[in-house]
Amino acid sequence: MNSKDFYGINFPMNIAKTHKILKKYYNSQRFQEICVLNTFQGIEEIAGQKTKIKVQNAGLNKIHNYFPVEHLPFLQNFLEKKLNNIIFSQIYMVAKKNLKIKNNFYIDKSLNIRIHYPFEVEKKSKLTRQIYRSINLNNFKEAEKEMIKAKKKSLSYILDNNDKSKIEYFNTINESVCLHSPHRDTWFGHSTEGINLWWAITPAREHNGLMLFKDVYKFNLEHEIRPAYVKNKYNLGKTTIPNVEAGELLIFDPEILHASRLNTSDDTRIVISGRINEKKPKFYGYSKENKEPFWLFSEDVKNKIFNKEFIFKREKKNIVKIKKNKLKNKIKSINLKVKLLPKNKYKLCQTKLIKNLKKVEINFENFKIGLIKKNSKFYAFNRICPHLKFNLLNTEGEKNHVICPGHGLKFNYLNGNSTCKKFKIKTYQVLTQKGNCYLKT
Ligand code: FES
Ligand SMILES: [Fe+2]
Repeated sequence: MNSKDFYGINFPMNIAKTHKILKKYYNSQRFQEICVLNTFQGIEEIAGQKTKIKVQNAGLNKIHNYFPVEHLPFLQNFLEKKLNNIIFSQIYMVAKKNLKIKNNFYIDKSLNIRIHYPFEVEKKSKLTRQIYRSINLNNFKEAEKEMIKAKKKSLSYILDNNDKSKIEYFNTINESVCLHSPHRDTWFGHSTEGINLWWAITPAREHNGLMLFKDVYKFNLEHEIRPAYVKNKYNLGKTTIPNVEAGELLIFDPEILHASRLNTSDDTRIVISGRINEKKPKFYGYSKENKEPFWLFSEDVKNKIFNKEFIFKREKKNIVKIKKNKLKNKIKSINLKVKLLPKNKYKLCQTKLIKNLKKVEINFENFKIGLIKKNSKFYAFNRICPHLKFNLLNTEGEKNHVICPGHGLKFNYLNGNSTCKKFKIKTYQVLTQKGNCYLKT
């Protein structure tokens, strides 16, 4: 693989366009132990010793059975405070020892510790963004009271534009669900030429992991203004979800389009992520997301100096022009000026028009249908994902399944079922008669 990215910079380990899992890295076992121990300590401080013992017995990946979803922001905040400097030092050592970065570099000060409960548990959370904004996350000993207090005063809390656009995008936002739709980190205001370090503290696998869309690397994709997720109109190709076991470290190029898998497993995913830049951070210009301009310098971190910040803001002088390729993988659409009604039969088109295609979009006035061909036969289904409305034709599916480009739900297009009880799609019969193709409802 070519180790040069499209800015002409060499990445260590050929990280451009790729990802790697490090099973072992500098001090890996100890680092994992520290993260786990601190998580247990946080659970005890917030929810008491009994809860901690239950989670210890069941395993950290089963925390959702014992620790209330509404209290997760307190735990995340606790961990960020306790672990920040430890993580910075760890990033420094991994960069030197494992990524073999020779020169000085920068470490992004905005770390992330994210805890994703299984969707079925998460969706019951009553933690709205208003309540979340109103609580004092440091008051974890009084977490319950803090939430009740916040609920009462929440209506007076004024949300900022970021909050409002998120609520609009997700319909509602429940703060524990930190699900990301496909994005590049530069769209969210992070630097170009970065390297992401992503530690799985509990396993992140097929049904709760990180989705990568490598086929559209370098392609010109538009994104929403805020939140800066990809517009729902591109065929994103094949999806990859790396299996990252507890304690393993995933390194990836943040310019690969990536998203969170809707957690349909029975395991909580706990992830710590950080970012380094080998050169002075530069930025992509069209982000309207908040700036995160604070960086640490590698030599300072080496000397345990964590309070000396370097500020690199997104501004004219450090905006990078990114050359991108045009995406040409449009799926054929057929528009019908009728409404799709039950117990009806509709002529779609002449069979010869679509017989060489693998996928077709059929737009009725009230429904958007997808056709997929398998063994010379077409199968029809509602192609709009019932989760957040991404087009289910827009990735490469597998074995009788379409995979949602939004957050990876898999739907069987023969019977409409997905791996999540809550989400199903309607399927239809396709008939070919006398040279024409029909849809039966
Ligand atoms: S899984 Fe989220 S939009 Fe489909
Ligand atoms: Fe990201």
